[in-house]
Amino acid sequence: MLLAAPALDGAGLQPIGAVERVTRTERGLELACAQGGAVTVTVLAPDLVRVRAKFPGQTLALDHSWAIAKTDWPATPWQLAESPTHVTLSTAELQVVIQRNPLLIEFRDAATGRILNADHRPAARDPQSGRVTAAKKLGYEEHFYGLGEKAARLDKRRGKFVMWNSDTPGYEEGRDPIYQSIPFYLGLENGAAYGLFYDNAHRSTFEFGHLTQDSADWSATGGELNYYYFHGPALKKIVSRYTELTGRMPMQPLWALGHQQSRYSYYPDKLVEHIAAEYRARQLPLDVLYLDIHHMDAYRVFTWDRSRFPDPDGLMRRLDAQGLKVVTIVDPGVKYQPPANGAKDAVKDRDLAPQDDSYFVYNEGLAADHFLRQVDGSLYIGEVWPGKSVFVDYTKESARRWWGDLQHETLSARGIAGIWTDMNEPADFLDQTGQRHENIIFDDLGQKSAYAGHRNLFALNMARATYEGLERLQPDRRPFVITRAGYAGIQRYAVKWTGDNNATFAALSLNIPMFASLGISGQAFVGADVPGFIGRGDGELLARAYQVAAFAPFLRNHTAIDQYDKEPWRFGPHYEAIVRKFLELRYRLLPFLYTTLEEAHRTGVPLFRPLVLNFQEDAATHNLDDQFMVGDALLAAPITRAAQREREVYFPAGLWYDHWTGAVISTGGETQTVKAPIDHLPLYVRGGSIVPSTLVMQHTGEKPWNPLRFDIYPDARGAATGSLYEDDGASPAYKTGVFRRTVVALNQADHTARLTVAAPVGRHQPPARNLEFIFHGGTVRSSVTVDGQALAAIQEEDSSTGWFRRRDGATVVRLVDNSTARQINLR
Ligand code: NOJ
Repeated sequence: MLLAAPALDGAGLQPIGAVERVTRTERGLELACAQGGAVTVTVLAPDLVRVRAKFPGQTLALDHSWAIAKTDWPATPWQLAESPTHVTLSTAELQVVIQRNPLLIEFRDAATGRILNADHRPAARDPQSGRVTAAKKLGYEEHFYGLGEKAARLDKRRGKFVMWNSDTPGYEEGRDPIYQSIPFYLGLENGAAYGLFYDNAHRSTFEFGHLTQDSADWSATGGELNYYYFHGPALKKIVSRYTELTGRMPMQPLWALGHQQSRYSYYPDKLVEHIAAEYRARQLPLDVLYLDIHHMDAYRVFTWDRSRFPDPDGLMRRLDAQGLKVVTIVDPGVKYQPPANGAKDAVKDRDLAPQDDSYFVYNEGLAADHFLRQVDGSLYIGEVWPGKSVFVDYTKESARRWWGDLQHETLSARGIAGIWTDMNEPADFLDQTGQRHENIIFDDLGQKSAYAGHRNLFALNMARATYEGLERLQPDRRPFVITRAGYAGIQRYAVKWTGDNNATFAALSLNIPMFASLGISGQAFVGADVPGFIGRGDGELLARAYQVAAFAPFLRNHTAIDQYDKEPWRFGPHYEAIVRKFLELRYRLLPFLYTTLEEAHRTGVPLFRPLVLNFQEDAATHNLDDQFMVGDALLAAPITRAAQREREVYFPAGLWYDHWTGAVISTGGETQTVKAPIDHLPLYVRGGSIVPSTLVMQHTGEKPWNPLRFDIYPDARGAATGSLYEDDGASPAYKTGVFRRTVVALNQADHTARLTVAAPVGRHQPPARNLEFIFHGGTVRSSVTVDGQALAAIQEEDSSTGWFRRRDGATVVRLVDNSTARQINLR
């Protein structure tokens, strides 16, 4: 049979055969190809098409993906046109032009006819090894973004990247692969973008013109060629569709945006309380403390070390009284511990009982057959913190439920606020490459699938078990799960930190492209260990690291077991004061950050953005990754080099204000050199923005947002828009409309600046409070009316409502929030 198939190329690859028959299906086309091959083209949306190939001799697996969140797409109109040489499927937005022989697919823009992405060679498969490949044409000016977590710059052009979740402590730029595998990228050329998601969890490789001038190549060691094409031309639209397909980040609790402190490891309980007390005494804002692996009894998951933590419930209560939450680590490695002779399980508080004779997690998991086994039926025994360890098969529903229940019983029911899932590549000290795991079999909905296609899915399914357990067992609270490894779709269950980074400036500079790339790959809630996990670092690094981290969604200070302490006060009062300044900025900006977080939850467009996401028409942003934006409004240009005290900042088109002075610094489209002493972050606001903020607090739940401020920065036409999102910050009630969205807009006519505050939407009712509207831009005003009534002029120090001119020239209007629409006119 195979001999009659199209000839193998030099690399042993057999191309997909020519199209022999085209069948129209309800959702697209079924292309029957030579030698029994087939390609299915499915229209999911006007800008989303799925391509799934079956090569000659290949048997396809169940059409199920652990990554995909949405399969019930509403029917989309599309048309078919056939010619002797081509088959064309068109939607309102794109055309899929399929050449019959050889089979080559091209994606064109319906309006302009422009080709956004096209096959360079026919897709192919090696019938011996099962390797599958695809090659797309490489544009001379094409830029590549995405691929999730890579220790690489933003633009992936000319790079080669492998997807194989790997535990890589101390990784440096260029180390590949690291923890996560997100086989999704976006291509951008001449202002127009597309996206491709190769949903194949096998070890795969992406090469964006790495060694060639003409092709962008993908290959996987097994599995299927099964990809999704996303049609732009806007990058944001693609990210939004991608996260519709693979799921979006659920709303995180408000405290997740707070400052978090960790160490490997804080123990005993007295040290945890000491750290808490230092924070409060020093007036350094903090919301969360982490318990790393030493809180467990000999690293046995779901147990407590009673000598270090004699009373976990009491500890939680005392910390809670100070507004502090606790997140504990949960590793996937379960100690391999057959019970001692005659041992009995403790019945009450099993996580607190001595585990030396009999470890309930091992016993239960074994009895219910939840652990991973190998082809010959034997348990897979690896080695992690507890020594010999077994791992759970999270593809089994029953195992996921069991795991979820365990964490509730022993952790969240004791007051633990979130779960940190670490080492989930899965790491194994016996073999970090995964080769030793080759014979492991996953249940995978009864398909008994091989390890090769499942290593990259392990963390996703563990995070799912964790998240769904918390959701099921504490339905009134938003789950908080943080993960190290992952696959596409991980954002549905967990937020992400970038693992064991170095406490160096080189690693700090990588923060920006890494957070930006994770964000445009669907993971909006990301951050890195501040100021770095491995290495000592120094006060200067600490200060600069907080200047970046103040804007990372996940803001956590953490350090390795054998490293110098890195809490903000460890390098002396000078640097501590700088850290405090940026933590206070962070807490003041919580209304803006939370609003931007909600945007990410709702649309998939991340908080932390590369400039190209907001300005894709501007070629100067295409590989700019030493600056970033937060939402649409803030532009940060941090210092990420030692001893540097000034830098160049690129300002895209538009008016830009200096955040610190409120003055216009640039009219856009230029680079300026700006000063950046050690306590200064070059931070700018885009003209046209309205940024909500509030007062400084020591933790996110300390006080309500009162006063609530709106800083208004007009663009060149005198206009600006912004919004504020609020909810209870903790429960899932937001899903049923218990939130409040307030839209604010400024426009200018006849020397009058008119600010419209729309009636708030949603059922959330914030407590009584004052509103402050701060009009930047420096125009001198002589009168203010609110809803047609003159507003009294007051002095800045007056507590009453009214308006005044601030020393920096801004006009401030102070009102009581009456939850209705408002119109404020300044003349
Ligand atoms: C590896 C993690 O990346 C690190 O953050 C943690 O402290 C150690 N494991 C110990 O649990």
